[in-house]
Amino acid sequence: MRLDVVTIFPEYLEPLNVSLVGKARARGQLNVHVHDLRSWTYDRHNTVDDTPYGGGPGMVMKTEPWGDALDTVLADGYETGSGAPALIVPTPSGRPFTQELAVELSERPWLVFTPARYEGIDRRVIDEYATRMPVYEVSIGDYVLAGGEAAVLVVTEAVARLLPGVLGNAESHRDDSFAPGAMANLLEGPIYTKPPAWRGREIPDVLLSGHHGKIARWRRDEALKRTAAHRPDLIERCEPKVFDKKDREM
Ligand code: ADE
Repeated sequence: MRLDVVTIFPEYLEPLNVSLVGKARARGQLNVHVHDLRSWTYDRHNTVDDTPYGGGPGMVMKTEPWGDALDTVLADGYETGSGAPALIVPTPSGRPFTQELAVELSERPWLVFTPARYEGIDRRVIDEYATRMPVYEVSIGDYVLAGGEAAVLVVTEAVARLLPGVLGNAESHRDDSFAPGAMANLLEGPIYTKPPAWRGREIPDVLLSGHHGKIARWRRDEALKRTAAHRPDLIERCEPKVFDKKDREM
């Protein structure tokens, strides 16, 4: 998969050299290019923003640097046979970024990210590229960041770990909170490792029972309890058949 990021803070993307994403790059599973938007400014101050038409607070990112940057990045990707691009625009007014969307993006060959600072990018830039490629305007949560770079890191990590061969153990996705399957829409419950007792705290007996059926049931009960406590909205989204009599007594 190819990833391009155009930003006024290239150094903000340094974490893409570390850990899972860094290793995926080193192995050639991810081909990452970070570009400085100011390379496509031609005035003395390398201006990327201006005041909003219609008035109001803050500044708006200008059309020209973004247009020139994206044209250059897209031309390079097309030349090198990167496949069909999709534009990922992080914005608090985007659609929620979910595991389902992470899976969809992980199936694409090439993602181009446009993290914005200030109040955002002149709308015409997004409308222009939307005529040529899929555009995903995504929000990573109901809060406002100072810019989209942190959202790029979040989306990249969620997508990269889904790429074939990136996670050591292919099973590791299986029980993820939000993964499809029997536990769909339930948050993962608690997990434990050795030693069996620590500061007087013992792990639940069932986990030492060797009884796979009982362990699975316990894990599901714990997942249900945790989901009810932290995300009751997710319980409401579950199909009724997910629950049995024992659940309803909980
Ligand atoms: N930029 C600023 N806030 C954001 C958010 N919540 N999600 C994605 N991009 C953003």
